[in-house]
Amino acid sequence: MPAVEIRTNVYWIGVNDRTTDLFEGIWPIEEEGVSYNSYLLLDKKKVLIDLSKALKTDEFFSQIRDLTPIQELDYIVMNHLEPDHTGVLKTFLQINPKATILGTPKMKELLANFYGVTENFKVVEDGEILDIGSRKLQFFHTPFVHWPETMMTYDTSEKILFSCDGFGGYGALVGTIFDDECKNLRFYEQESLRYYVNIVAKFSKPTLNAIGKLGGIEVDVIAPSHGLIWRSNPGRIIELYKKWAEYASGPTEPGITLVYGSMYGNTERVMDVVAQGITSAGVDLQIFDAARTHVSYILPALWINWGVVIGAPTYEGALFPPVMDVLTHAAVKRILNKKTAMFGSYGWSGGALRNIKQIIEPIKWELEDSFEFNGSPTKEDLEHAREFGRAFAEKIKKGS
Ligand code: FEO
Repeated sequence: MPAVEIRTNVYWIGVNDRTTDLFEGIWPIEEEGVSYNSYLLLDKKKVLIDLSKALKTDEFFSQIRDLTPIQELDYIVMNHLEPDHTGVLKTFLQINPKATILGTPKMKELLANFYGVTENFKVVEDGEILDIGSRKLQFFHTPFVHWPETMMTYDTSEKILFSCDGFGGYGALVGTIFDDECKNLRFYEQESLRYYVNIVAKFSKPTLNAIGKLGGIEVDVIAPSHGLIWRSNPGRIIELYKKWAEYASGPTEPGITLVYGSMYGNTERVMDVVAQGITSAGVDLQIFDAARTHVSYILPALWINWGVVIGAPTYEGALFPPVMDVLTHAAVKRILNKKTAMFGSYGWSGGALRNIKQIIEPIKWELEDSFEFNGSPTKEDLEHAREFGRAFAEKIKKGS
């Protein structure tokens, strides 16, 4: 995709990635893709804000060359070190070894560790302003959105916030880079949520700190390094990120995530009846088969819904491993303070419930109810399952 001018002499350059199967080596993006956005400012000084993953290096450098010789760039602003934004750095420095790299003090350390680059680096202080000609850039340290060296860069003339990972999302760009030209905003909002929970959510407090810190500046355009540029409604993505970050420690939505696994269909039969009970109470329900759904897609539901129902058989004296895997990921991502209930089949001894208690206790999930049944469910088990689901849903609805 050729460069796109987003304001006079401010260009989006970047690449769509539709071939990487796993973002960060974990999170599936085969279907959705992702973009690595960079920005080129052509002023008295020429500035490149963030780079790109080493993926379509020729295309990336061609976009710059179409606008200016790479050797003429004065600065690279490195908002974030992670290699999806810096993978082409060594190639860039072979072409232009004189450009000054700007970043936080922590960036200096990481840059040496990851790339062995120690020359031509200048630390920018929090709030520091750089005059590049007809405009000024201001740097705001925003540690842990997403790594400790992270900062955001603000064009004070055009009121553009170059926010790197912050306000970003999965999803390759489809024909346009702008929110107002996008015909499928819902897709990008959903993929922003999945990205937030997969990548940023553990750092929700730093995210809220950053949003608070930037609250005093006027923003006309949010230009992140993944996904859409929000120029018609920048407040929308800020508001979504704020809401999601607040879910880390405050009230979430009164819905239920039902995560289940089933070896021979017994737990699944009960799951369908539990779901009927939940739905009869008028509570939103999302159901995931843990063995067949990547945890990347389950975590967002766990993040936003207060209630969690776990349906899992005992497997060799322990919790069914695919369900254990989901709960372990939830613990790693610090998805805290849920209200939960458990059901499942066992053959000759239990064990699933014991494992669940071990995993959820440190993340403060309150176990409200549980029932296990031997082998296949009886008529009484199924009747009980419906009431079990309904009663749990009523508690979620009431918030108690
Ligand atoms: Fe898009 Fe934390 O890198």
